[in-house]
Amino acid sequence: MSWSPDSWRKKPVKQVPTYNDEKALKEVEERLAGFPPLVFAGEARNLKSQLANVCNGDAFLLQGGDCAESFVEHQADYIRDTFRVMLQMAVVLTFGTKLPVVKVGRMAGQFAKPRSEDIEVQDGVELPSYRGDIINGIEFTAEARFPDPTRQISAYRQSASTLNLLRAFAKGGYADLNEVHRWNLGFVAESPQGERYQEIADQIDAAMSFMNACGINSLTAPQMSMVDFYTSHEALLLVYEQALTRLDSTSGDFYDTSAHMLWIGDRTRQPDGAHVEFLSGIKNPIGLKCGPSLNPEELIVLLDKLNPENEAGRITLISRFGHDKVEDHLPALIRKVKAEGRKVVWSCDPMHGNTIKASNGYKTRPVDRILTEVEQFIGVHQAEGTHPGGVHFEMTGQNVTECLGGAQAITEADLSSRYHTHCDPRLNGSQALELAFLISEKLKRHHEENTKVA
Ligand code: PEP
Ligand code: CO
Repeated sequence: MSWSPDSWRKKPVKQVPTYNDEKALKEVEERLAGFPPLVFAGEARNLKSQLANVCNGDAFLLQGGDCAESFVEHQADYIRDTFRVMLQMAVVLTFGTKLPVVKVGRMAGQFAKPRSEDIEVQDGVELPSYRGDIINGIEFTAEARFPDPTRQISAYRQSASTLNLLRAFAKGGYADLNEVHRWNLGFVAESPQGERYQEIADQIDAAMSFMNACGINSLTAPQMSMVDFYTSHEALLLVYEQALTRLDSTSGDFYDTSAHMLWIGDRTRQPDGAHVEFLSGIKNPIGLKCGPSLNPEELIVLLDKLNPENEAGRITLISRFGHDKVEDHLPALIRKVKAEGRKVVWSCDPMHGNTIKASNGYKTRPVDRILTEVEQFIGVHQAEGTHPGGVHFEMTGQNVTECLGGAQAITEADLSSRYHTHCDPRLNGSQALELAFLISEKLKRHHEENTKVA
C-alpha cells in the first residue's frame, strides 16, 4: 500500500481523542492546512545531516524541554530560561565530548500527551484524562476535559510565537558563547556542589581566554555568538501533524512542518499502527522511544519501515528503560542493530523509566536515578564499542521542585512548594546543569579511553 499524508487513517490508532463534532474538526484541519509552515524542509534536512554526524560519532545530541508545554505558561522568560540552560549544558557537554553539540528543544509544539489511563478518578468522580493542551484542558471539570479541536489552532499559534523567539535568541546575539560561559561560572560559584564543577569550568575558561587572545571572538567569528537550535515534539495527534505536512518543492518529498524533528512515543510504536505509518512517509529526522517492551526483532521491523534506505541521521533511538533496567535491555538492541548494519543515533532519555510516586502522592523522579541511567547508558556503549550519541531530558529553566535530590537536595516535603508541571516532573535549571557537568565528566573519561586505544 502506498503512503500518503492520510494513509495512517486506515490503520489502528492509539492514544488519540475522539472528537464528537466532526464538522468542527474538519474545519480546523482545513484552516491548519492553509496556514504557513512553522519550519522549512531545508532546516529539517540540516538537522538530519547534523544527526548523521552524531550517528558517525562526530557530534553529540542534547534534546530537552517541557514534558508538556501549556497555554497558560506561555511567557518570554520561560522560553528564554529553558533555552539558556540548554545552551549552558551544551557548552559543558561540548567540553566533555570534544564534539559539537546538536541542540533540539522539546519546545514550540510539545503539546499532546499519551496517557496510561483513559479515565482519571478524583473523589469518586470519573472524567477523561488530560491529554495535553492541544487536546483538552487540565482542570478537573467535564467541560475542560472534553476534546476541543479548536485547541489545535491555539497550539499552532503558540508554537509559531515560541519559535519566533527561539530564532531571535539563537541568531540575535543572546547565545554569545562568552555570555553562556559567564552564566556557567556564576552557577559554579553559587552551587553548593560548585567545587566539583570548578575544574571543568576552569578548563573551559582557559580555552576561552586562549581563543580570545588569538582574536577569535563574537566580532570576528559569527559561530561564537550564534547557534543552530531545532524544535521537536511527539507526533501524537495525527490530524494536526497531517494538516501541517507539506510537499517540499525542492526535493519532491513530504515534510511535517510542525517541527524539525518528530518522535514516536513508547505507547504508539506498533509496527502496523497509525503513528508508524504516518512517520514512515515524512522525511524529517525522527525519534523512536525504546522502552523495556521493545525486543530486538521488533526494532528491526520498525527500522525497515521507518528507514528502509538506512539513511544516517534519519533515526534517533531514544532509550528509556529505567536506572535498573538499562543494562538488561540495551546491549541486545545495540548488538542487533550493529549486526544488521543499521545506522542510528543512540540517545538516552533517563526520565520516563524513573518516575515514582512520592509518599505524599506527587509524581517525581530522583536525580540520582536519572544520573545512574545516563551513566549506565554510557557504560554499555563503551562496552559495545558504540557511540553514546545523546541525552533527552524533561527540564525547564525555572526553579521548580518536581524532581528529588540534586545539589539543592530537594526532598519529598519540598515537592509541593513549586510543583508546576502539566504532566511529568521536570529537572529544574540547576539540576539540569548539574547533570550536564556530571555527564560531561563521564563522557570525558569515555573519550579519553577511546583515544588511548586508538
Ligand atoms: C514523553 O517523552 O513525554 C513520553 C511520554 O515518553 P515515552 O513515550 O517514552 O513514555
Ligand atoms: Co513526559
